[in-house]
Amino acid sequence: MTKIIAANWKQNGSLKLLIKLTRDIRTGINRLKKRPKTILFPPSIYLDPISKEIKKNKANNKNIQLGIQNISPYNNGAYTGEISIGMTNDFGCTYILIGHSERRHIFMESEKFISNKVSIAFQKNKKVILCVGETLKDYRSNNTKQVITRQINSALRESLQLIKKNKKNLVIAYEPVWAIGTGRSAKIQDIETTHTLIRKLLFKLINDTKSEIKILYGGSVSPQNAKEILDAENVDGALVGGASLSAKKFIEICRTI
Ligand code: 13P
Repeated sequence: MTKIIAANWKQNGSLKLLIKLTRDIRTGINRLKKRPKTILFPPSIYLDPISKEIKKNKANNKNIQLGIQNISPYNNGAYTGEISIGMTNDFGCTYILIGHSERRHIFMESEKFISNKVSIAFQKNKKVILCVGETLKDYRSNNTKQVITRQINSALRESLQLIKKNKKNLVIAYEPVWAIGTGRSAKIQDIETTHTLIRKLLFKLINDTKSEIKILYGGSVSPQNAKEILDAENVDGALVGGASLSAKKFIEICRTI
């Protein structure tokens, strides 16, 4: 099964830096004997030039895909500052990141808002990476199971019928909030426990008997810990933040699949 390694560049870089990063990642992935499916999530304002840079390499087209870090839950209209799903089609943008902890906690996105985004994305036939994860307080009080169950149920409930018809369009990323950008990834045992829980939830909700829905881990993934994480049970790939801003580190992570 091909692993997915996704790069979330967040609000980092400049046009010059990110074009070079895309080029270096593209070249590096080309040299790998075994290639993961790679998805790049640049800041939205750079989607067009990054999309062009990816397309420069025809042979590798399918391996590297483009995604948007955030999306409006509404169709075109009076929503200042937002980007609609229809607009992303102009840039060959396949994936949409929804429910990232930074959107939930810094920009106060509610579970209802996240559910609306999942719903519009599935109505428009887009691929979604839905992020879920518990805070340190939840983790320390043994509430991980409860939080993840609530987040998955609330995000998917409105869209169950559409997701059932197109299971492959859904990817879940488990990103413990306390592991993001801290250099402290979750323990393998905890990753396996939560990914297995997510599997069970997807089975129950969407009848995903063949594990068509991939589950990624994110939170301080590095060249040092990538192999162990990617080899863990029910881990289908990684969502990489900080380390994806270095082509060298990102390729080293890709090499461990
Ligand atoms: P870090 O890899 O920097 O911990 O970020 C993870 C993340 O938030 C990816 O979406």
